[in-house]
Amino acid sequence: MQEKEVEIVRILRAGPGNEKKYVSGQALSSRLGVSRTAVWKHISNLRKMGFLIEASPSKGYSLKGEASFNGVEIRSALTTGTIGKKVFFYPSIDSTNIKAFELARSGEPEGTVVIADAQSNGKGRIGRRWESPPGVNVYTSIILRPDCPPQAAQNLTFLSAVAVAEAVGAVCPGRPTVKWPNDILIDSRKVAGILLEMDSEADRVHFVIAGIGVNVNMKAMMLPDPVRSIATSLAEKSGHEVDRTHFVRTLYASVEKWYKIYLMEGFGPILSAWKGYFDAEGKPVKVISFNRSISGICAGVDESGALLVRDPAGAVVRIISGDAERG
Ligand code: BTN
Repeated sequence: MQEKEVEIVRILRAGPGNEKKYVSGQALSSRLGVSRTAVWKHISNLRKMGFLIEASPSKGYSLKGEASFNGVEIRSALTTGTIGKKVFFYPSIDSTNIKAFELARSGEPEGTVVIADAQSNGKGRIGRRWESPPGVNVYTSIILRPDCPPQAAQNLTFLSAVAVAEAVGAVCPGRPTVKWPNDILIDSRKVAGILLEMDSEADRVHFVIAGIGVNVNMKAMMLPDPVRSIATSLAEKSGHEVDRTHFVRTLYASVEKWYKIYLMEGFGPILSAWKGYFDAEGKPVKVISFNRSISGICAGVDESGALLVRDPAGAVVRIISGDAERG
């Protein structure tokens, strides 16, 4: 969703004043300063994004309808400088992470976001599926291009968790918590998940895709078992529908804020903010890491964010990747 598309929607919404609100291709072309062929291309992009635009050879274009959650509204709502500078919106897509990966490979800049109303192949962590029905949630992927070695990209896992937790906390009563490394919970039920994917050389990151799925207005009963019993949504917890466009604005602003802090001050402030949402220390925990199950008492995280688990023999095991459940 780029500037020309946003401008076309503004023009079509206003119309020229007559009751049918048709705007000629010529008028659009001169107001936008582009050729009529380019106008046609932008109109066809808008149609793919859920705008119902009628074209008449004699009268021009007329906007007949639009989805309430759409790229134009999202882009107009944004207050950020970098995150969301370019917005690619889809009514439905296989996975926003897959699309963002393709776009990043083809050179789209840092801060470009992909957002969809529905996903047919939403990807979760550890090869799981992310349920992505239409009309209710937020599925978005953000392209980041940190200048760092691949090992440091792991820091962005914690950064995304802090940003999502902050955005969730801003629209929902009660403080969210994080489950190591980056699930966001409210009252022990999962409300958001994050999937980080990366393209790199041995010593340099090309780009990172931060894929974020937030259950906004979904009812947990819409989910299949066994996810149903462990999931919730912002609406269920706040007792009212949450405006998805407003939530996306809050989310991107939060990602931008924490990413700036990370670039200027490093991982320290990110990890300490993350610890403020982490409530498992001192509690029993069970971690599955690379097909190995480790149970014990959570001893917090170290300075790199690795999970520390004190096993029954008293030894502290350091875990860099895996899935942690309450033991
Ligand atoms: C998890 O397993 O907790 C991570 C879920 C991440 C889901 C999001 S939805 C937007 C983005 N696109 C995907 O295919 N996955 C991520």
